[in-house]
Amino acid sequence: MLTIVSVILSKYFTMDLSLSEEQLMIQKAAREFAQQQCLPGVIERDEHQKVPKEQLLQLADLGFMGIMTPTEYGGAGMDTISYVLAMEEISKVDSSVSVSVSVNNSLVCWGLEKYGNEAQKQKYLTPLAQGKKDGALYLGAFLLSEPEAGSDATHQHTSAIDKGDHYVLNGVKNWITNGSTASVYLVMAQTDASKGSRGINAFIVEKNTPGITVGPKENKMGIRGSDTHSISFMDVIVPKENRIGDDGFGFNFAMKTLNGGRIGIAAQALGIASGAYELALAYSKERKSFGKPIHEHQAIQFKLAEMATRIETARLLCYKAAWEKDNHMDYVMSAAMAKLHASDTAMWVTTEAVQVHGGYGFVKEFHVERLMRDAKITQIYEGTSEIQKMVIGRSITR
Ligand code: CAA
Repeated sequence: MLTIVSVILSKYFTMDLSLSEEQLMIQKAAREFAQQQCLPGVIERDEHQKVPKEQLLQLADLGFMGIMTPTEYGGAGMDTISYVLAMEEISKVDSSVSVSVSVNNSLVCWGLEKYGNEAQKQKYLTPLAQGKKDGALYLGAFLLSEPEAGSDATHQHTSAIDKGDHYVLNGVKNWITNGSTASVYLVMAQTDASKGSRGINAFIVEKNTPGITVGPKENKMGIRGSDTHSISFMDVIVPKENRIGDDGFGFNFAMKTLNGGRIGIAAQALGIASGAYELALAYSKERKSFGKPIHEHQAIQFKLAEMATRIETARLLCYKAAWEKDNHMDYVMSAAMAKLHASDTAMWVTTEAVQVHGGYGFVKEFHVERLMRDAKITQIYEGTSEIQKMVIGRSITR
């Protein structure tokens, strides 16, 4: 009797943390790509703030721009865990590359796949998931933040006036990843301020539409290669068929899409932390002090032990959030927890990795210096750590 009960229970309460053949394949492909194509020149691209277009084109060819998008829309048709694995491997080496991959995959392609209509998917999702159109790079960007609406995203100043068969957009968007390289923008704008967040709409806007101006590239502390710009809209005409969902659905669209985006940024933070840890571990085996390799000193072993433990907890949170999303469960809180913890882990681990390297960790020839600068943004974009705590707090207390 007991055996039958335990067999039935094990069917419903299995805990299998092993990766499938397919997931291991994408992890390996992403690792090899990062080591062979992203590592060479990463320091120079960071120094000169060079957008990694070549790497993004190669990733498009390999199917990394629409990892989770169904194959009928040009994607790879894989799960969110596969996306997390790819993000971790690329971010170990170059987060200026991985942030473009993340925005295109989870904010743009996933948002369109989930909430776009069939005509929108045929026209925009397919080339976006392929990352290419007519042989050229074809990416998307997500335009929510504004100069005066970052964390407080409901207070959109960008307006979208309804003119019958089209809308007219005016306003400015800030901190836009893929700002100049993207061909398609998903823009959130206020149509009826009296309705608050329910008066906001989301639009698919082609970048070459008259009235759009791309500002200069931001000179950033980290992810310096990534293509970050402000975008201005002056009397930009957007056809009504480019609105996503019903009138007033725009803020919900942004929030629901960001929930998945946060898993991507958590995986990016995880990758930055793992990359720094692997470098610190390797260095600690080479570097000698007081007559032995430094990893034989307990002071260094304790650091490595704590790094490894924090990284493992971040990885588990990322996998859990991804697994919940793949299994159509409520993943809002798990995604926020994964991002909160993984980004704090990235900041802590990279700082300790610099410490393990001593003076060498403070110079630009050693990758940990860049990884420490790159880690910081993961506590800020796609919802600051404080916003993640708000989301978690509201989920716990509702
Ligand atoms: N998931 C689903 N729906 C959500 C949600 C979530 N995580 N958070 C809020 N909502 C919904 C609410 O249910 C509510 O819906 P209804 O109108 O249907 O009831 C609506 O959104 C309004 O929510 P609130 O009343 O809770 O609004 P608020 O103003 O009190 O708080 C907020 C909203 C959670 C603080 C939100 O503004 C927020 O998440 N801010 C952070 C914004 C952000 O993450 N920006 C990142 C910019 S994008 C970026 O960085 C891209 C890049 O290029 C890298």
